[in-house]
Amino acid sequence: MNILILGSGGREHALAWAVLQNPKCDKLIVAPGNGGIAQIAQCAAINPDDSAAVLDLVAEEAVDFVIIGPEAPLAAGVADALREAGILTFGPSKAAAELEASKSFTKMICDASNAPTAAYARFNEADPAKAYIREQGAPIVVKADGLAAGKGVIVAMSEAEALAAIDDMFGGAFGGAGAEVVIEEFLEGEEASFFVLCDGETALPVGTAQDHKRAYDGDEGPNTGGMGAYSPAPVMSDAIVEKTMEEIIKPSMAEMARRGTPFQGVLFAGLMVKDEQPKLIEYNVRFGDPECQCLMLRLGAQALDLMLAAAEGRLNEMSVNWADDHAMTVVMAANGYPGSYEKGTVINGLDALPETSFEMCFHAGTKREAGQFLATGGRVIALTARGTSLQEAHAKAYAMVDAVYWPEGFNRSDIGWRALKG
Ligand code: AMP
Ligand code: GLY
Repeated sequence: MNILILGSGGREHALAWAVLQNPKCDKLIVAPGNGGIAQIAQCAAINPDDSAAVLDLVAEEAVDFVIIGPEAPLAAGVADALREAGILTFGPSKAAAELEASKSFTKMICDASNAPTAAYARFNEADPAKAYIREQGAPIVVKADGLAAGKGVIVAMSEAEALAAIDDMFGGAFGGAGAEVVIEEFLEGEEASFFVLCDGETALPVGTAQDHKRAYDGDEGPNTGGMGAYSPAPVMSDAIVEKTMEEIIKPSMAEMARRGTPFQGVLFAGLMVKDEQPKLIEYNVRFGDPECQCLMLRLGAQALDLMLAAAEGRLNEMSVNWADDHAMTVVMAANGYPGSYEKGTVINGLDALPETSFEMCFHAGTKREAGQFLATGGRVIALTARGTSLQEAHAKAYAMVDAVYWPEGFNRSDIGWRALKG
């Protein structure tokens, strides 16, 4: 079959790699793709948020199945447009994508289904929001309601910081995303990313991971999209996975179906686990980046079969074939990221890296020019490895990092520290 993947990040390179492991894929197109993806698939320079452009491409290339990587096309209704045109699509409708696009929507779903989550209140004016913060005290978490590219969350350790966040948000720092603010209880515990495929009725777990959101070693520095990840996450024991499915995921999915907006695609639950109790921090309606790089290396060819089954409503027939393995990904980002950074610097050593089902360099922000790879984004490559232990995956991933020569880039040297110290 002919397959189209929408997106241009490391997540989409990993999805493309996994899809190509499966003999069902005859032709793969990625739109818009990047320098690394162009090495393995045909790239199409269209805006993936533009339904009309996506439909044109689907017609031109006789695409049978579309996989939507990032949240923006989902929030823009691209999955709806494709399904209306009769194209098999992996990814939720615009209405179901509200689970990521609006934090207060997710809170409403949690309330309706009794899912454990942080206590919260919603505000659309600064004064009552500030009064609430003074009443609750710090630490406390202030969130812009809408999509803010992962930057709309302030975990305030002091009251002053929380009050300043309110001024920023109502002052327009996040545009329309900050017009409504959710203030919530600070949750303590260990964070984990949990991924579940859904077809509107059946929910099937496809992996756990732990991300590293802070820019620098020791979880210091500003929040980023994620500087590295590993899978599985030891905190997500079988018992906690079961509890998460029964108390959080299945009730949320049932509530979405009851509302007439069933969820189809991958549901990414950001969880906080403390004293054997998972609580929902947030939902995303797509794979995590860089968590996806670990999951795809572990799932391989079956990833396509699972996504097809989700799109066709056949997840009840499926199971995941787990190897007893571990994966790690280490992100290299441009110096200065997540602040401002230089573009167009040369990355050396990528052509000599191994490309196997155990070691892959997934590109997130590169382009190929005159036989060289140039950095085009903040997060630029994700060096990903798999082994029979996390130690082995760690050694292989960092061996790849050491083989890359890119003075204008940096990486964390402590990915996996929580699990490795144990
Ligand atoms: P988000 O951008 O929604 O992924 O949130 C960014 C990060 O803020 C999360 O990964 C958590 O580390 C942290 N965070 C969000 N909500 C809470 C909360 N209620 N308590 C503690 N930490 C939180
Ligand atoms: N790595 C976290 C995310 O994709 O949101």
